[in-house]
Amino acid sequence: TAAYTADLVVFGGTGDLSMRKLLPALYHSDVEGRLSPETRIIAMSRGGLTDEDFRGKVDAEVRDQVPADPGAWQRFLGRLHHVSVDVGGENRSGWSALTALLGGHEQRDRVFYLASPPMTFGPFCRDLDKAGLVTPRSRVVLEKPLGRDGASAQRINEEVGAIFDEAQIFRIDHYLGKETVQNLLVLRFANAFLEPIWNSLWIDHVQITAAETVGTPGRRGYYDQAGALRDMVQNHLLQLLCMTAMEPPARNDREAIRDEKVKVLQALRPITGTEVDRFTVRGQYTEADGMPGYLDEPGSTAPTEASRRVETFTAIRAEVKNWRWAGVPFYLRTGKRLPRRASEIVVQFKDVPHSIFPGGSPNRLVLRLQPEEGIELHIMAKEPGAGEVALKPVPLSLSFGKTFTARVPEAYERLLTDVLAGNPTLFMRRDEVAAAWQWIDPILASWESSAELPEPYPAGSTGPAGAHELLARSGRVWHEEDQA
Ligand code: BG6
Repeated sequence: TAAYTADLVVFGGTGDLSMRKLLPALYHSDVEGRLSPETRIIAMSRGGLTDEDFRGKVDAEVRDQVPADPGAWQRFLGRLHHVSVDVGGENRSGWSALTALLGGHEQRDRVFYLASPPMTFGPFCRDLDKAGLVTPRSRVVLEKPLGRDGASAQRINEEVGAIFDEAQIFRIDHYLGKETVQNLLVLRFANAFLEPIWNSLWIDHVQITAAETVGTPGRRGYYDQAGALRDMVQNHLLQLLCMTAMEPPARNDREAIRDEKVKVLQALRPITGTEVDRFTVRGQYTEADGMPGYLDEPGSTAPTEASRRVETFTAIRAEVKNWRWAGVPFYLRTGKRLPRRASEIVVQFKDVPHSIFPGGSPNRLVLRLQPEEGIELHIMAKEPGAGEVALKPVPLSLSFGKTFTARVPEAYERLLTDVLAGNPTLFMRRDEVAAAWQWIDPILASWESSAELPEPYPAGSTGPAGAHELLARSGRVWHEEDQA
């Protein structure tokens, strides 16, 4: 493994993402030898912490999340620094402190990771530039959500683009770092048998689900402004759709893959006007079985009108209008406080053209991102017995956990390594983000102007009735409903 030497500056470095995802991922990278001894991790935040305070905080909050070996853990803590800054303000003392810390290391790679709300991206980049900290070897990583609609995303892209070249900008979508998502490309493009049937002749529809059991405790401030469409669909679910629907790229390289993805986004059939009601569903969970409703979630802010209107669940019938996919619905679905945590892509094949057996059901390929990453192909088999032929769907099942003994890295670990290596293949290009918003914007606009509130669904249920109707209209059902 290559060991990278870099100064990694995390803005929002004491926040939830940093403590739960970035620092554990960096610790694993450290243990596996991907960080050279000189590599430093510099957290920036508004809280006036010293290096010692920050190390203490990480020791208290992160150590239990990783299998920390005492020696390795001390070495990791030694890499950590903290600088307090005032972004976009008059007080430049934090920026001088950062300049002093980075000074003399201009030849090193510098990674500025912005794990902060999107409106800080532009001001932060300008402050960096003013402090003269942007070197040719610098990169900037932007966390999602990138804006709250197409126009704000464009503004942010322009502000960041005024300081950094596109090749230096890494827009993260952590779903692209998940093993199964990369495996999808291998499954599709390193095996010959799927490609001939990967189209509307053989595939009836596709379901892409990211279901969570968690609610949104303590996140109302963010979530009221976001909602499931911005939080999950604009980025994660559309990226999964792209990986499923894209044409075979000519090469496994950054531009070839992203070129194909952007074509899928551009081929999405717009959902506008009255179609929004027909093809989209939004829901909000209500109190049930001892679980609070969205409006009763504990948090620092009281619910407002925005809270009543925000969707914690959405289901959408999308369509990719191109030669391969015309007429094949892509059903997208995501929600909080659902009965099981499951992210998966289900490819439902068409039925046999003519059946000579009673019973039977069409083949289905399930790519599971979590929990327990794996791939299952449901085929029809004959139940053992000497009597009448009886069919039963059985899975040909590949469990990554059982097949491979190596530890499966977390998505952030993979992506941070790619940033250090300067490989943007698994990051969103500017035109991809724009194309995704272009499809999302009219849906958002229609929801925002609607007098109706999201459909209530009890916490712990499978979502609002509308989500089931969305498929039932064409005689289809969501994957888990016919598993009994
Ligand atoms: C984040 C969203 O991007 O993804 C969260 O902001 C969501 O609301 C999370 O919970 C889900 O990620 P994962 O990896 O647990 O599926």
